[in-house]
Amino acid sequence: PETGCLSIIVLGASGDLAKKKTFPALFNLYRQGFLPAEEVHIFGYARTKISDDELRNRIRGFLVDNKAASSKHSDDVLKFLELIKYVSGSYDTEDGFQKLDKEISEHEISKHSHEGSSRRLFYLALPPSVYPSVCKMIRKCCMNKSDLGGWTRIVVEKPFGRDLESAEKLSAQIGELFDEPQIYRIDHYLGKELVQNLLVLRFANRFFLPLWNRDNIDNVQIVFREDFGTDGRGGYFDEYGIIRDIIQNHLLQVFCLVAMEKPISLKPEHIRDEKVKVLQSVLPIKDEEVVLGQYEGYRDDSTVPDNSNTPTFATMVLRIHNERWEGVPFILKAGKALNSRKAEIRVQFKDVPGDIFKCKKQGRNEFVIRLQPSEAMYMKLTVKQPGLEMSTVQSELDLSYRQRYQGVVIPEAYERLILDTIRGDQQHFVRRDELKAAWEIFTPILHRIDDGEFKPIPYQPGSRGPVEADELLGKSGYVQTHGYIWIPPTL
Ligand code: BG6
Repeated sequence: PETGCLSIIVLGASGDLAKKKTFPALFNLYRQGFLPAEEVHIFGYARTKISDDELRNRIRGFLVDNKAASSKHSDDVLKFLELIKYVSGSYDTEDGFQKLDKEISEHEISKHSHEGSSRRLFYLALPPSVYPSVCKMIRKCCMNKSDLGGWTRIVVEKPFGRDLESAEKLSAQIGELFDEPQIYRIDHYLGKELVQNLLVLRFANRFFLPLWNRDNIDNVQIVFREDFGTDGRGGYFDEYGIIRDIIQNHLLQVFCLVAMEKPISLKPEHIRDEKVKVLQSVLPIKDEEVVLGQYEGYRDDSTVPDNSNTPTFATMVLRIHNERWEGVPFILKAGKALNSRKAEIRVQFKDVPGDIFKCKKQGRNEFVIRLQPSEAMYMKLTVKQPGLEMSTVQSELDLSYRQRYQGVVIPEAYERLILDTIRGDQQHFVRRDELKAAWEIFTPILHRIDDGEFKPIPYQPGSRGPVEADELLGKSGYVQTHGYIWIPPTL
């Protein structure tokens, strides 16, 4: 691994994302020894004029770990906070960035003078509207010092644009300033344990290889549910809606990993090539295969307009025009303020031909990958009901992580992804052409929603969403197994 001075600059340091995700992830990396104090310095940058200590105080509360409230922990928090310095300045003028560069350089020179000692990672925890000016300033004032070697990388968060045109414009603006290998477009779903497991599962198991196609699979669902509403984020959310917030990025990334062909190797470019191919094979979305919803009470938020047409729920079917998947619906579903919180992939197999147990319909084989909470994979299958009678029952083969990997701590998505940016591994980041292909799929429907041509159906908070969505599931071929529920094992 590379050594030498590493500066991590969090822009938008006092914002929500930085406090809730970026700094806690950095802290966890620090605790595990990935950010050695003799090499690393962390800089917070934002407009507010506050002192180093004020920033540290704002962050501190987010580093508390209730499970491990030991003195070692509080000691680590103190040491970590000491690594953080704060610089204030605007996002579109040079003086702040010059000040920032000076601070970084001083630290680089004081700590090391050998090759590779100017590694600079800029994390833009900022609204995308300022990406172009911030990137320009970094390019102008803050690039790594070539005499010390190293690199400069930038990490950007979604939303990357609002539609195909704005995304392409943003990509072009950033692309003029940085090369693709320097740009890390983060989608935190790619950092989740079971999402990272998908390629292994699919391509390292003989079980799945011959079955993973239209001959055996009837339909696939990729589902995201939250049991709370937009909770104080109404203003942001209303600008984007559930398709831009969850489906176009998080669920679509999962979709790619479920549906793509086997990459030539595990090299990031090989994997991303396959993702682009499958995205480009997606057919235009049909109106009758979309159900939108908005939960009742969403517009009560003072930051949401009274006549908002923004969906907080959507079920939509993607169809892939290729040899493997022709005719198989991929049902993407996401919603806020529903009856539960979970994210999962459900691969439902076709009925068994020539069924001899037809006296009682037992349901189909289904392979479920539970991304969260309670990470697990389970296969729903039909077995003989234990006992004297010859009857059948739906059961499961269950690989629940909490039980199988006791004592193993599953890293946070952001933790893993930030480590990748330091190591220079782009496998779990979105490439420019991938982003373009993703926007191509959703832009037509998004424009029609924005124009008010497509309206969300109201639904009760705490419900399953509009009943029309369940009807669409049924029409797409999904068969629910009545009377069967999977219960995560308790220890
Ligand atoms: C974010 C969305 O990207 O993902 C939020 O903007 C959503 O609306 C969040 O709540 C969900 O992330 P996770 O990791 O809690 O599933």
